[in-house]
Amino acid sequence: MVKFGGKFAALTLSMNGSEGVLYTTEIRKMTTVYKKWGYRMKKLPLQKAFTFLEPGPVVLVTTADKDKLNVMTISWTMVLDFTPRFAFMTGSWNFSYKSLIKNRECVIAIPTVEYLKKTVQIGSISGAKIDKFKKFKLSPLEAASVKSPLIKECYANIECKIIDYIQKHNIFILEAIEAWVDDSNKAPRFFHAVGDGRFIVDGEKVNHRRIMMDKIPSGV
Ligand SMILES: Cc1cc2nc3c(=O)[nH]c(=O)nc-3n(C[C@H](O)[C@H](O)[C@H](O)COP(=O)(O)O)c2cc1C
Repeated sequence: MVKFGGKFAALTLSMNGSEGVLYTTEIRKMTTVYKKWGYRMKKLPLQKAFTFLEPGPVVLVTTADKDKLNVMTISWTMVLDFTPRFAFMTGSWNFSYKSLIKNRECVIAIPTVEYLKKTVQIGSISGAKIDKFKKFKLSPLEAASVKSPLIKECYANIECKIIDYIQKHNIFILEAIEAWVDDSNKAPRFFHAVGDGRFIVDGEKVNHRRIMMDKIPSGV
């Protein structure tokens, strides 16, 4: 594991994972066909609109409540500006929630495509009565600054403090305080949830850093 801390650690992570990535174009099933502005547009059912916005990497979130370690899957995440601050959405229907509220910390672990199926399974079962680390053969590593464990099998791990919680929308605001990356994996590929049980895996990377240079903070 190589630590890559600093102000823009989180951004570095997300750029590693998705910079210029071309996602496989897929044909989505839409129902009604509209002819507008001279070309055909198909109507997308409103409840599916979010599937076009969803793709960010699917992550694992670990917590520790006293000695009880747990891990859940989260795809509803966002980055907040060029800071190492993030948000994710979860609620009291999940076992992890209690620990997040009580202990105000977690680790965001970024799995690679080799762990896609396992990540889905982790997100399909509650840790209330089982030890998901054991069940899914994940190795918890002691974190530097939080009690929640890192996951050895994940490419990157971000230790976070919860700095705010917007109860009305079940949104947790996190501040990364340490970040770790396993640089033995030279070509990590992450995956992204469409939201309907299908996933998009990182593909070709295209570098447009030169065009964006004055937008990218130094060190990123
Ligand atoms: C691909 C995938 C993405 C998920 N994303 C979220 C999410 O963003 N927020 C959430 O609350 N639950 C999400 N879930 C569901 C939780 O991971 C699931 O309810 C899990 O069992 C909670 O674990 P826990 O009860 O041990 O905390 C997702 C599940 C999967 C499979």
